[in-house]
Amino acid sequence: MDKFRIHGGVPLSGTVVIRGAKNAALPAMAAALLTGERVVLHNVPRVRDIATLRSLLDELGVDSSIAHEEYGNRVEIEARQLISPVAPYELVKQMRASVLVLGPLLARFGHARVSLPGGCAIGARPINLHLKGLERLGATITMDHGYIDARAERLRGAAFHFDTISVTGTENLMMAASLAEGTTVLENAALEPEVQDLACLLNAMGARIQGAGTSRITIEGVGRLHGTEHTIIPDRIEAGTFMVAAVITRGCLRLERVRTQHLTAVIAKLEESGAKVSPGPPSGAGQAFDTLTAELPGGLTAADVTTREYPGFPTDMQAQYMALMTQASGSSVITETIFENRFLHALELVRMGADITVDGRRAVVRGPTPLSGANVQASDLRASASLVLAGLAAEGETVIDRVYHIDRGYERIEQRLAQVGARIQRISED
Ligand code: EPU
Repeated sequence: MDKFRIHGGVPLSGTVVIRGAKNAALPAMAAALLTGERVVLHNVPRVRDIATLRSLLDELGVDSSIAHEEYGNRVEIEARQLISPVAPYELVKQMRASVLVLGPLLARFGHARVSLPGGCAIGARPINLHLKGLERLGATITMDHGYIDARAERLRGAAFHFDTISVTGTENLMMAASLAEGTTVLENAALEPEVQDLACLLNAMGARIQGAGTSRITIEGVGRLHGTEHTIIPDRIEAGTFMVAAVITRGCLRLERVRTQHLTAVIAKLEESGAKVSPGPPSGAGQAFDTLTAELPGGLTAADVTTREYPGFPTDMQAQYMALMTQASGSSVITETIFENRFLHALELVRMGADITVDGRRAVVRGPTPLSGANVQASDLRASASLVLAGLAAEGETVIDRVYHIDRGYERIEQRLAQVGARIQRISED
């Protein structure tokens, strides 16, 4: 298992090009199952979760190919036919987002058999709403041997209200409803930019979706969808992570290929704590993206944060923000409202010298405390990012074990950090 060795204390400086969003690319690849024609996706990040979804497409008998582009990959998927409707346990246990194939398989082929994802480090993460919603659309769902078996001759449009806002739940139902007969209305839908990006792709494939980005999404089902080409939106969580890297090291990073409007809550919180985030000229082909510079001109002050669904402060930035708050003057209260167990990084940060008390869904960080390098262990994707950030700010050597977690969602993060001055190395061990 690979590890990272970091020697902290170097202010980062330079330019980082932000990659495409993993959490937008995954549903986009699943959406390609809705048509027999070719779907071409650009700006797909080179991360392990994407490779896992390609393995799953392979299992289903669906052709996909991958090619390097200047930034990220181009992925082409052509789901002419299906060899098997089964998403096996071995793949679903590696990546819960595999459940995104459920809606498209059911809608296009009438049958899907997807392993139930098990427990997860950050919370129970049930998928009851995905199933309830598909049942509303007329699917018959049974469970056996740890698998969900969903069948429907043709799904029928219906109204569905989410009890809890769910990102992949909204995406699964939006995809399924695109090929249903009649109109579906999703209430209390997720507003995340990744949901909007998926709606944009589906509409380009011939779907009739309105209201994505609001809590009420209307989908008028169509008989068939066709191929298209689509560029994945920038990864707002990766951008947020690099902004924190700039601030926690008292450096200055220029981020290219971002979407500022997706980062409003994160930028507001960083500015509240003393960071300066300034816009630069547009970047990317056709100047489709923004540029931002993040730095810390003066002191860093504690600021409380509560995670919320978009447009609130993202749970996927909570661990990184906690690392930052260990270096801020004063006490900050961090409240996690989305997942019930997403503070595993706190204990590792404490091992590096942080003063953090966790009580249920609230953590109190008292700062600033000098961090000292230590051997620590990554427990999930964003927790690993938090430990990397702490390592960059710490005095001495930090060794982070189990970095396969970070490889799931950040493209060669150690190389990109090294390019802006970080002393970080990957240690590969068999
Ligand atoms: N929930 C239910 N029932 C459901 C679905 C969700 O109770 O059927 C609950 C969950 O347990 C959780 C809350 O609803 O408490 C929100 O979960 P959601 O379904 O929105 O999460 P998700 O779709 O499984 C996506 C991202 C996560 C991100 C969350 C929240 C993808 C592939 N994953 O997960 O990303 O944390 O939304 O924003 O889009 C990550 O990238 O590190 C990551 C974990």
